[in-house]
Parts: sequence; structure tokens; C-alpha cells
Amino acid sequence: MSNIAIFASGSGSNAEQIIKYFSGISEHAVNLILSNNPHAFVLERAKNLSVPTFVFERQTFYNTRQVLDVLLEAGTDLIVLAGFLWLVPDYLLTTFPQRIINIHPALLPDFGGKGMYGARVHEAVIREGRKKSGITIHLIDEEYDRGKVLFQAECPVLSTDTPDDLATRIHQLEHRYFPETIEAYLQTLHSL
Ligand code: GAR
Repeated sequence: MSNIAIFASGSGSNAEQIIKYFSGISEHAVNLILSNNPHAFVLERAKNLSVPTFVFERQTFYNTRQVLDVLLEAGTDLIVLAGFLWLVPDYLLTTFPQRIINIHPALLPDFGGKGMYGARVHEAVIREGRKKSGITIHLIDEEYDRGKVLFQAECPVLSTDTPDDLATRIHQLEHRYFPETIEAYLQTLHSL
């Protein structure tokens, strides 16, 4: 049995997919949603799905052990970043080595790094006239969007695409592949 904690800053459509996927698999469960944004819709989704939530401020996250204590109390085995926009502090990286997974809405190493999230990524892909984009699911380390890649999938970028069109196509890929990539990674951790 693995306990999964999800960090999300916004809508939380990925978080919802992951919660639902694992509710059908008795081996693993999402038992905590954490957010830096008290108004994030992900909190509403978590409430509707009966998953406990924890909201924190910048000062709490970077200068106290409170978030770590909440994770340890929940028995967290794996942290999933699903649209979480803050850099993860060192104390989480050292407590959960190889156990923090992020999703990025582009084909890293392109269109990654500080400030590249959500619509900004899709705007940049379209501005550069790329013919394809995609998703990257990866482990995280001290820098934004740099850790070991676990999975990538591509989709076309059409000449008529707006950033919203591309975001919709990317979300479809994310919802389809993120939960099963997490599950596959948990299996590899268990067989170590
Ligand atoms: C997702 O597309 C995710 O890839 C992206 O934020 C979106 C969150 O959507 N993450 C980043 O840009 C991180 N750099 P959601 O809240 O509906 O799951």
C-alpha cells in the first residue's frame, strides 16, 4: 500500500483524475491534497471526493517543518506535483529522494524552467511555430524541470491552434497517461 500526496496550485483536473484512478486500485491511494492557494479549485474537487486537504503559505512552506510534518503524519510514500507552481524546498527533496514526480505540459527540455507553466508554455510553443508539443512526466531535483524523465507523449500543434486549444489537447494526454505512469513508477519502487 502506498500513500500518495498531491500538490496542486490551480484547477486540479489532473489531481481529480489521479484520485479517481487510484480509488479503483486497492494497493495505492491519494490520501492528501496540498495547495499554496486557498482559492484553488482543486480544494473543491478534493472535498467532493472526500480527500483531506492542507493549505499553506510561502513562509510556512519555506521556513517551517509544518508541511513535512503533515506529509509524514499522512504516511506519504510518493509526492505528485500536478500543476504546482512553487519550487520544492530542499527538505522535501532530501526526505523524499526519487519520490517526487512532476508533470510538465511540454516536451522537456524544451519550454521548461522558471516561469514556464500552464498557458505560458502553450503560448511559447505556438509563438515559436512548433509542429508538435506534448507532456513530460519526470522526477524532480533542485532545479525546475530537470530531473529524470519517466514518460513523454506527443501531440500535434495545428496552425490554427490558440493556447487554449493546445491546452485542451495537452490535458487529454495528461489525464490519459499521468495516473498510469504514477502506478508504473510505484511498481518499480516496490521491486527495488
Ligand atoms: C497541467 O497542464 C500541468 O502540466 C501544468 O499545469 C496544468 C495544471 O492543470 N503544470 C505546469 O505547467 C508545471 N510547470 P490542472 O490543474 O487542471 O491539473
